[in-house]
Amino acid sequence: PRARGLVVVVDGPSGSGKSTLCRRAAAALGAGYLDTGAYYRAVCWAALEDGLDLSAGAAAEAGGRDHGLDEAVAGLARGLDLRVGTDPERPFVVVRGTDVTAAIRESRISSAVSVVATNLEVRAELIARQRAAIAAQASARGVVAEGRDLTTVVAPEAAVRVLVVVDEQRRLARRALELHGTSDAAAVERTRDEVVRRDRDDSSVAAFTEAADGVSVLDNSGSLEEGVEALLALATAALGER
Ligand code: DC
Repeated sequence: PRARGLVVVVDGPSGSGKSTLCRRAAAALGAGYLDTGAYYRAVCWAALEDGLDLSAGAAAEAGGRDHGLDEAVAGLARGLDLRVGTDPERPFVVVRGTDVTAAIRESRISSAVSVVATNLEVRAELIARQRAAIAAQASARGVVAEGRDLTTVVAPEAAVRVLVVVDEQRRLARRALELHGTSDAAAVERTRDEVVRRDRDDSSVAAFTEAADGVSVLDNSGSLEEGVEALLALATAALGER
């Protein structure tokens, strides 16, 4: 495979369109694809399945962490039977033998996941698993991975590091379409609060709205084709340099 050994990591906020971008670029390169957000969503799904009350954690977060809950979720994460697919054409997530690919996208997960993602022991465990998955894919066929802290924490040594940014109005419209099935003005307004809250929760985890040193900024406000072209140009340049 021509991209063997290549590591491309992409960070960006929710609604930036980075998933589609990464999947398309991975497919074009013949590389593997890794969605690191799926790991946090999977742990959240399992915690809810085990009856852990994550809303208590969210309430406690304002005045400090709920340490009992944090310990329980961290223990669960360490022992979790989790498989994350790496085929860009057909991503899947299996937890304890159950296919949760669709279930982890539900709003009950999106609204509870930040309690999981801000748990530092959970992060340590999932980052270790993500690094192993990225290394395995890289040596087999190359990899395009996406998340919030990949350019800075998970894989700062990657050959290609990208931060995706997008025009705010476009991002709101994308999220409205995902959440409400339409991007009309009313749906966009209903989405605004949710997006502001998600950004605030997520930014306590990693500074993904500003590019770290050596990270290329990719503006994904144009067409999908333009975004894919831009990402592929960065990947191809890195392949040419080695
Ligand atoms: O990208 P997403 O919406 O699927 O991410 C789900 C949650 O996980 C969100 O709260 C951000 C968090 N996340 C993270 O903290 N670090 C990553 N590398 C990826 C996602």
